[in-house]
Amino acid sequence: MTVTVGIDKMGFFTPNLYLDMRDLAAARNEDPNKYLIGIGQSKQAVIPPTQDVVTMAANAAEQFLTPALKAEIGMVLFGTESGIDNSKSTAIYLAHLLELPAETRAVELKQACYGATAGLQLAADFVRVRPTAKVLVIGADIARYGLRTAGEVTQGGGAVAMLVSANPQILALDPVTSYHNEDVMDFWRPTYRTEALVDGKYSTNVYLDFFKRVWRGYQDQTDLTIADFSAFVFHLPFTKMGRKGLRQILPSATEPHQAELTAAFEASQADNRNVGNLYTGALYLSLLSLLRHQTMAAGERIGLFSYGSGAEGEFFSGTVQAGYQQGFDSTAIDQLLDRRQRVTVAEYEDIFMQRLSGDGSDAHLAVGNDPAEYRLTGRQGEQRLYQKR
Ligand code: CAA
Repeated sequence: MTVTVGIDKMGFFTPNLYLDMRDLAAARNEDPNKYLIGIGQSKQAVIPPTQDVVTMAANAAEQFLTPALKAEIGMVLFGTESGIDNSKSTAIYLAHLLELPAETRAVELKQACYGATAGLQLAADFVRVRPTAKVLVIGADIARYGLRTAGEVTQGGGAVAMLVSANPQILALDPVTSYHNEDVMDFWRPTYRTEALVDGKYSTNVYLDFFKRVWRGYQDQTDLTIADFSAFVFHLPFTKMGRKGLRQILPSATEPHQAELTAAFEASQADNRNVGNLYTGALYLSLLSLLRHQTMAAGERIGLFSYGSGAEGEFFSGTVQAGYQQGFDSTAIDQLLDRRQRVTVAEYEDIFMQRLSGDGSDAHLAVGNDPAEYRLTGRQGEQRLYQKR
């Protein structure tokens, strides 16, 4: 008998500060509609120095982890492209912070924004051969392009945590998947840099080209067509990017179905529009956003397009499970987003520069203004110090 495998639980975290894109547009002498409509972003997460990918991942996972569930986790796969160490993985730090069992395989995965999808697919294959296993998959990142760059409006940050298991509560993954890679320089970050390098226009073209390819590759392997899908969710570096992706395939749908897919897209971009790019987590925040803002019936199929610059792309799919709303805490996510504080552009610029220095010196961070459960408190003897409230 084939085991049904997929996403059983999801959690999301973004820090308590945000920048309004109208304020950024005013400061950069841009028409606000360029940011709000042309790019499709309303707010952007601002990441205080007391949050990094480890704390954000812990805060996201804590949304659904109970002591009993923690004891069942056998593997942690941490997708990130803004890791904190070139050797020791974020997954080990996270497993320790969350007090997961020592008998847990923990590793970090990197391929730009694709890392969490690699984690999800590896986890699903793992559970297919070990149906009692539970895997914690993370997509956590801080998207940094630099002040006054074209990419500035597409920054953001946060984490999505997913529990992958047999008989999942949220989304059963279809075993068929289609992937493609090419060695391209559309976006990259050499180890000596804290901000990404990007060929912006080129990157958007590669994204759209990869989507066309892997969607075609998926269809070649199945007898499914666009008519079999209730929604498509996209990696959303900014929401207009996914909208462009959807527009590529919409003409092959009937008119009523085009309206249905467009409505689903609106639901799937609602949260990303207010957080910005999460890199590895962006696709999965979009999935959460769809499930939070649109009611779906059990058995409806969702298509997912993952893209990581450099570049790797994958199209895969899953079916919504009955009672999927029990797999995440929508109220907690609303509260997290609603309770954020708006910062001025001057404050954002100041926070942007407040990172642990690159020289490894000791530092003590003032955590008093950060209400999160897990926080980075500083560095001593070149070791990062974390704290759970
Ligand atoms: N009202 C409405 N729309 C307006 C407007 C106005 N007043 N003014 C401009 N616009 C529209 C433009 O027409 C354009 O729309 P289209 O893309 O539909 O043509 C849109 O706003 C953006 O305008 P520009 O192209 O002039 O914007 P830009 O040159 O400043 O740069 C960008 C845009 C290339 C996306 C840049 O923000 C960037 O480099 N971002 C980072 C790279 C990125 O996110 N790439 C995505 C693919 S790679 C990936 O997905 C991996 C990843 O996460 C990084």
